[in-house]
Amino acid sequence: MTGERTLAVVGAGTMGGQIAYQAALHAWDVRLIGRREERLQDARSEASKLLRRRVEKGRLDHDECEAALARVVLTTELDHVTEATVVIESVAEDREAKRAVIADIAERLCDEAILGTNSSTMPSSILADRVLDPSRLLNVHFFNPPLVMALVEVVQGPHTSEDSTRRAMEFARSIGKTPVLVARETYGFIANRILFIALQEAMRLVQDGYVSIDDCDLAVHQALGWPMGPFALADLVGLDVVEAILEEGARQTGDSRWEPLPLLRDRVQRGELGRKTGQGFSVS
Ligand code: 3HC
Repeated sequence: MTGERTLAVVGAGTMGGQIAYQAALHAWDVRLIGRREERLQDARSEASKLLRRRVEKGRLDHDECEAALARVVLTTELDHVTEATVVIESVAEDREAKRAVIADIAERLCDEAILGTNSSTMPSSILADRVLDPSRLLNVHFFNPPLVMALVEVVQGPHTSEDSTRRAMEFARSIGKTPVLVARETYGFIANRILFIALQEAMRLVQDGYVSIDDCDLAVHQALGWPMGPFALADLVGLDVVEAILEEGARQTGDSRWEPLPLLRDRVQRGELGRKTGQGFSVS
């Protein structure tokens, strides 16, 4: 059965998990669909820790918190997609994996549902041939951490209908986010297009010996008002994800400014991926 405010999130990593609980906080019934039970439980315990801290700080009502946690059904069954009017795909940034998952979701999508991909690197056109009705497919791009960051980029593909775009914008608002409309597909959309070139400049300055990682972070934080410097941010996003975004940027734009630098590549090769592994640029 389809509920008018039922969301399915496919992919229970940091992004998918937090998107699910953000919607639940705004009274959406949610199916969080992951491949592994263990990862689903991690998503739930991370969200409950964050939300219960809000309760302790007096910023969230206790009953609202518990109701939100209860609204998210954790499941490994993709068939739950059929119950949703909005589906967000948030699996790993691997082109073939994403194309396969999008096809599996599309087979199960109910007639009224829109399908948003949270991909940072793939405009939905890259996925459109895997979907029966591409007029309901578009990018709905969240920022890390989704429980905190207000912005959502809604990117209309050439195949996306006006109605689907309007519904995606409405969905983002309904879960407390601020959507911006990206009217045409372009690599990195808006925020990542700017952010990742700035990250590259920061990495060049450090690699070429002009400044230390800590001082560069301090300078950007203090002078430009970023909440955290570029290296701390790269650690939050994950250095493997940063590398993948840059590689894909170089491929899709043909612009060498996107080529990952040895400073980044070496760390990724050593398995130092930022916060998730405990080692990266500024975590150790
Ligand atoms: N997940 C969820 N919530 C988090 C969090 C995380 N990883 N880290 C911190 N928070 C929450 C804290 O719980 C706290 O919430 P509370 O006030 O309800 O307790 C709040 O954020 C503030 O946390 P802190 O006081 O510990 O620390 P800060 O004030 O430094 O905030 C931050 C942390 C929110 C991460 C802030 O530094 C920030 O906004 N950084 C910039 C993040 C950013 O630019 N993200 C975009 C990355 S690019 C991207 O995502 C695109 C993708 O395609 C790659």
